[in-house]
Amino acid sequence: MDYLQIKKADSLHGNIKISGAKNASLPLIAMTILAKNCVSIKNLPHVADINTLLKLLSNLGAKCSSLWGDEENITTVDTSSLTQTKATYDIVKTMRASILVLGPILARFGHCEVSLPGGCAIGQRPVDLHLKALEQMGAVINIEAGYIHAIAPNGLKGCNIIFDKITVTGTANIVMAAALAEGVTTITNAAREPEVVQLCQILNESGVKIEGIETAVLTIHGTNGKLLEIDEFSVIPDRIEAGTYLCAAAITKSELTLNGANAKHLGAVLSKLEEMGSRFTITENTITIHPSDVIKHVKIVTQEYPAFPTDMQAQFLALATQAEGTSIIEERLFENRFMHVSELQRMGADISLNGNVATVNGKSKLSGTDVMATDLRASSALVLAALVADGITDVHRIYHLDRGYDSLEKKLQNVGADIKRLRE
Ligand code: UD1
Repeated sequence: MDYLQIKKADSLHGNIKISGAKNASLPLIAMTILAKNCVSIKNLPHVADINTLLKLLSNLGAKCSSLWGDEENITTVDTSSLTQTKATYDIVKTMRASILVLGPILARFGHCEVSLPGGCAIGQRPVDLHLKALEQMGAVINIEAGYIHAIAPNGLKGCNIIFDKITVTGTANIVMAAALAEGVTTITNAAREPEVVQLCQILNESGVKIEGIETAVLTIHGTNGKLLEIDEFSVIPDRIEAGTYLCAAAITKSELTLNGANAKHLGAVLSKLEEMGSRFTITENTITIHPSDVIKHVKIVTQEYPAFPTDMQAQFLALATQAEGTSIIEERLFENRFMHVSELQRMGADISLNGNVATVNGKSKLSGTDVMATDLRASSALVLAALVADGITDVHRIYHLDRGYDSLEKKLQNVGADIKRLRE
């Protein structure tokens, strides 16, 4: 198993190229199930989760091929040969987002089986809202032997769906199901994350009229089974990757420029970094961070977009260990998303946890040691802490990191970090 060995960084400098967004890419790859043509996708991130979904589609009979270049990459997905409709446990267990194939397969073939994802490190993460919405659209769903068995004997029909909670992959799944359904589907309390917005925009450009894009009420005019012609497109930049490198700059008090980043998607993150003392120079596709010498404490509550993202909570918690004073970080989306706290404590951080609220007393002197990554974003928090910890930190179980960060150690090496990938 690989691990990262990181030495304390004096200061970082230079540019980091931001990759395509993992969380945008996953629904966009699943969307190719709705296409009659071979779809070309540019700017997919080269990360394990993308390979997992491409493998899942290949197992179902699709033809996928990728050319990974340093500057540009392109993947083609041809689902015209897709005949299988069962997403098996061996793949779904490695990536919960595999549930994203449920809506499009059901819409296209009228039946689908997907292994239930099960629990995960950050919480229970049920998929009940996805299933309830599909049932409203006419699907008959049974759970048997760990599998979701969904059939739509008379096809899916448009209807009014009101999500009890805002769900990102739930919204994407139902938008894709509604795209081929008969009639009009309205989703109220829809997710407005930029990743959902891109999915809707591309469907809209491919012949599925969608009203209300970027709002909490989406109206989708289904094509009644007619498959789509989807033109080549490029995935939006990864706002969470960008946010993570901004935290790397802030924690090491370094000036860094992110190329290919979209500041419009990072409103809440930039605003919290500003409260902590950083300043920015922003262009259409770059963000330069000018960090402050003194990091100020902060109060953060994670919520759905456009509020502060839960996927940046762990990184800000690491940053807060280096802030002067007491920071309060409240996690509202996932019940168990503080697994990084005990590892940061082992490095010397002063953090107390009370339910879903972390109180971080800074500034703490951190020391390098062996730490264990527990989930994707928790892993990056440990990397950030390691950049300022005295001595050497070994971050183990980085397969979590590899799920979502494209070439993290290379990108950090390029800006001067002493970080290397080693084998246990
Ligand atoms: C997506 C992101 C993940 C991010 C999360 C919240 C992808 C691939 N993953 O995950 O990185 O952390 O959004 O921004 O895009 N819920 C239910 N029932 C459901 C669905 C969700 O109770 O059927 C609950 C969840 O347990 C959670 C909340 O709703 O408490 C939000 O979850 P959701 O938005 O669905 O997260 P994901 O789409 O899985």
